[in-house]
Amino acid sequence: MANVVVVGAQWGDEGKGKIVDWLSERADVIARFQGGHNAGHTLVIDGQVYKLNALPSGVVRGGKLSVIGNGVVLDPWHLVSEIAKIREQGVEISPETLMVAENTPLILPLHGELDRAREEAAAKGTKIGTTGRGIGPCYEDKVGRRAIRVADLADRATLEARVDRALTHHNALRAGLGLEPVDRDGLIAKLEEIAPEILQYAAPVWKVLTEKRKAGKRILFEGAQGSLLDIDFGTYPFVTSSNVIAGQAATGVGIGPGSIDFVLGIVKAYTTRVGEGPFPTELTDETGERLGERGREFGVVTGRKRRCGWFDAALVRQTCAVSGVNGIALTKLDVLDGFDTLKICVGYELDGERLDYLPTASDQQARCTPVYEEMPGWSESTEGARSWADLPANAIKYVRHIEELIDCPVALLSTSPEREDTILVTDPFED
Ligand code: GDP
Ligand code: IMO
Ligand code: MG
Repeated sequence: MANVVVVGAQWGDEGKGKIVDWLSERADVIARFQGGHNAGHTLVIDGQVYKLNALPSGVVRGGKLSVIGNGVVLDPWHLVSEIAKIREQGVEISPETLMVAENTPLILPLHGELDRAREEAAAKGTKIGTTGRGIGPCYEDKVGRRAIRVADLADRATLEARVDRALTHHNALRAGLGLEPVDRDGLIAKLEEIAPEILQYAAPVWKVLTEKRKAGKRILFEGAQGSLLDIDFGTYPFVTSSNVIAGQAATGVGIGPGSIDFVLGIVKAYTTRVGEGPFPTELTDETGERLGERGREFGVVTGRKRRCGWFDAALVRQTCAVSGVNGIALTKLDVLDGFDTLKICVGYELDGERLDYLPTASDQQARCTPVYEEMPGWSESTEGARSWADLPANAIKYVRHIEELIDCPVALLSTSPEREDTILVTDPFED
């Protein structure tokens, strides 16, 4: 028996969806444990593209149990439309194959409105560049003990009481931002209407997963976002509102930390970021443009152009440490084909001092300048390579040097968006 946690080791969009889909063949259960529909995970299988936000990337395989854990914030209307869309692509979803934790907080329309109103009102330099999907405001309500959770949908009196409690808080906030008060009865009616659609998937996930573990089933935990967007360890305040690192997998579904056998960090062969905030290796020149074009770096959720830059080994070493990463999946190596020289950041300079990690204070992060090593690139194509033997010598050297710098071995290597264009070095489920 082995349980594997997949986490993004940069600023998100590392290729988690592709790798989770690939690994899910070896798993029985695929569970999301944080984040919400701010995530955009892309799978490409025989040319067909699937884009998932709230649904775990295991749904496409069929025959697996997909789980949305309590660590997630769930927009019930989005889930219903996502299910409808994925069904149109021929994927079967039923209460036998999808389970939503009863203690999952619900994202309401008022959360998205608040998220967007705050971003619009933010002074220059303080905008986060959120996805506008209400993620932060919903997590605030969870911690503030005024969230409406999946289980609350089952009882009208409880639902009304929960809505009233939430609106006492939200209407006051909305007044300050110039937003109309929420239509209470309209919101309750909308929730009652969606309730049966969601309740058919509701379950005590912690209990189901305990039983699965006892029966020797394998669980694959699918992280969203990336460690540098983690609420504690990311580039705060330019982060998302959840813990995204591996420790969250346990609390985000209700299993013990000892049940995690392998942490797989997903790492892009260069760096991207979408939204505001410090990014030491960002390239605003032609090279950055070239990375963005070759890597098709546009956000799945918002369509925004992703910022691009060289690989930052100092950052990935740091994120691998906070998640206890046992091995990485290195993705998008093919995007680097054809560069004469590749740069790798190995540390920073700040006020004349050399640092080997990114400092915590936001102003210091913004002032860090990268210290680079250079490596020769390769002119051959690595696109679609399925074995080490297919890789040019300089590409292998680049990968080996990254392993050394981040102090972590490569377990998987990805060379195109297609599911099967993947090289297995170490099976995380068997290690
Ligand atoms: P996620 O959020 O981590 O799941 O990543 P996204 O799906 O947002 O972004 C990753 C993008 O890169 C998607 O369009 C994938 O299809 C694509 N992708 C994944 N792996 C590779 C790879 O090895 N090479 C190339 N060229 N594209 C890849
Ligand atoms: P996946 O799972 C990349 C970023 C947003 C913004 C910040 C806060 O596809 O890797 P939020 O809406 O969460 O409050 O926004 O976090 N962000 C992501 N960036 N990939 C993601 O998910 C992201 N989810 C949130 O752009 O900077
Ligand atoms: Mg994404």
